[in-house]
Amino acid sequence: MDMQEQLRRMEEEAQSELSRIADRAGLDALRLKMLGKKGELTQLLRSMGQLPAQERPQAGQMINAVRERLTAKMDELESRIRKMERQKKLEREAIDVTEPRAHTPIGTAHPISLVQDQLLKVFTGMGFDVVEGPEVELDMFNFELLNLPKNHPARDAQDTFYIEENIVLRTHTSPVQARTMLSRKPPIRIVCPGRVYRADEVDATHSPVFHQMEGLVIDEDVTMADLKGTLDAFAKALYGEGVTTRFRPSFFPFTEPSAEVDLTCMNCHGKGCRVCKGTGWIEVLGAGMVNPKVLDMCGIDSKKYSGFAFGVGLERIVMLRYGITDMRALYEGDVRFLSQFRED
Ligand code: PHE
Repeated sequence: MDMQEQLRRMEEEAQSELSRIADRAGLDALRLKMLGKKGELTQLLRSMGQLPAQERPQAGQMINAVRERLTAKMDELESRIRKMERQKKLEREAIDVTEPRAHTPIGTAHPISLVQDQLLKVFTGMGFDVVEGPEVELDMFNFELLNLPKNHPARDAQDTFYIEENIVLRTHTSPVQARTMLSRKPPIRIVCPGRVYRADEVDATHSPVFHQMEGLVIDEDVTMADLKGTLDAFAKALYGEGVTTRFRPSFFPFTEPSAEVDLTCMNCHGKGCRVCKGTGWIEVLGAGMVNPKVLDMCGIDSKKYSGFAFGVGLERIVMLRYGITDMRALYEGDVRFLSQFRED
C-alpha cells in the first residue's frame, strides 16, 4: 500500500472516530493516537526518510495537510465539549430558590441578659454610663478601698473565693465603683452589670455564680432624696406606676447610712401573697450614701462631693419576672427551658 493510500485511510478512520467521540477522554485518546509522540501520523512523518528524496517534499505536504485538517476538527470538537461541560456544570450547580431551606434554629437571649438589658435601658435613659470591670479582682478593689480592711468582720459575710492572698473572684460589682472613682472625676453616673462569685451551696435560690448591677452617682450636693428618687423611678420604669420602694436601715461598710431596699410586690401589688410571703414587699437591692471614707480613699474630696450607690441582684428579678422557682434552671443551658422567655 503506498503512503498516499495509507494516509487517506488514516484520515478517514480518524474522521469516523471523531464523529463518534462525545467526551474529553475520548478526544484526548484520539489526539494521542494520531498526533502523539508515537502517534500514527507522527510515525508516518518519521518514516518519510525511507522515501526517495524527490518524493519527500510532496509527501511532507500531504501529511501536514492531513494533520492540519485533523487538528482543526479536534479543536472544534474540543470547544464543543467544553461548552457541553459548562452547561452540565451550570445545571448541576443551579440553585432552586423555591426549595424550602433547611431548618436553622434561631436562639434567644438568656433571661438574665433580657433583664439586664431592660435595667440598662432604664438607667442609660436616666443618663447613666455603662462600665464593666474584671471578674478576677484585686483584694484592694473588692474590699480594701470599699472600707473592708483585712480582718474586717464584714468580710466573712461574703464567702469569698480566693485565687491568691490578694486576688479574689469578685464577690460583688462594687469594685467597679472604686476603679471608676480612681479613674474619673465627678460628676460620675454609672451602672456596672456583671457576674459575681460567692462560695455558696447550690440550691433553688443560691448559686456560686450570679449577677449584679451596681449603680454609682457622685456629684456636689447629692442626697439620699436623689437615691430614693432614682430607685423609685427605676421601680416604676420596670414594673409600672403602682410600684414604689421601701428603705430599711442596714449596714454596708462602703455606704453610710445604708439601706436594704424593697420594691412593692409585683405579683400582688402590695396586698400580700405567696411570692412576697404575705409582706407586700420584695427585697432586691442594697444601697446607701457612699461612705466619705471611701470617697477619700479613692481620691475624691468628700468635703466637696457626696454620692449614692446601690447594688441589684439580677437573678431575683429574673425569677420574679418570669415565675421561675428554681435558680438552677438558669444555669443548666437547657434550650427548651431558656427559649420560653422573650421581651419585645
Ligand atoms: N455590694 C453589696 C452586696 O453585694 C450591695 C451594695 C452595693 C450595697 C452598693 C450598697 C451599695 O451585697
